[in-house]
Amino acid sequence: MDKIIEAKDITYIYPDGTIAVEKANFCLFKGERVAIVGPNGSGKSTFIKLLAGLIEPTEGKINFYGKEKIKERELRRRFGILLQNPDDVLFNTTVMEDLEFAPAQIGMEKKDFIAIMEEIVDLLDIKNLLEKPPFRLSEGQKQRAALASILTMKPEVIF
Ligand SMILES: Nc1ncnc2c1ncn2[C@@H]1O[C@H](COP(=O)(O)OP(=O)(O)OP(=O)(O)O)[C@@H](O)[C@H]1O
Ligand SMILES: [Mg+2]
Repeated sequence: MDKIIEAKDITYIYPDGTIAVEKANFCLFKGERVAIVGPNGSGKSTFIKLLAGLIEPTEGKINFYGKEKIKERELRRRFGILLQNPDDVLFNTTVMEDLEFAPAQIGMEKKDFIAIMEEIVDLLDIKNLLEKPPFRLSEGQKQRAALASILTMKPEVIF
């Protein structure tokens, strides 16, 4: 099976000295669904940021797609990242503009975007929200709009 992420003995220490992740090992294979469960403050979000390549481990190594080094741009194209706060990915004037943003960044063809966008809008039932400014949505609607904005770039991995 294709190994997408392999983390070996990774530790992450925040600048204030907090050890958020300590000597963790992890593998993600193509097609797998993985849930990371733990109490508040146990390091789940930090671990996800490491696995998604948003931050680098203080110690240890992470290989993506079996490579020692991978271009930041390539990771951003393949990985869709939705953290706890939906406002992190909703920053345009309307929900529709947020859906267009990431696909435009990775140079997706307009017709491919329209096809995937219509599918996602149906799936998440957000057609009535497309012209609204994200800050006027309810919290649950924001979560769905944020998820949609990740899915429209057809990520290989969703965090
Ligand atoms: N920017 C930061 N600077 C210093 N310490 C931090 C920072 N962000 C998180 N921490 C600390 O790192 C540890 C892990 O935090 P993290 O956010 O990864 O936990 P979590 O498992 O996602 O928690 P939750 O269930 O509340 O989302 C906690 O002790 C937290 O206080
Ligand atoms: Mg968290």
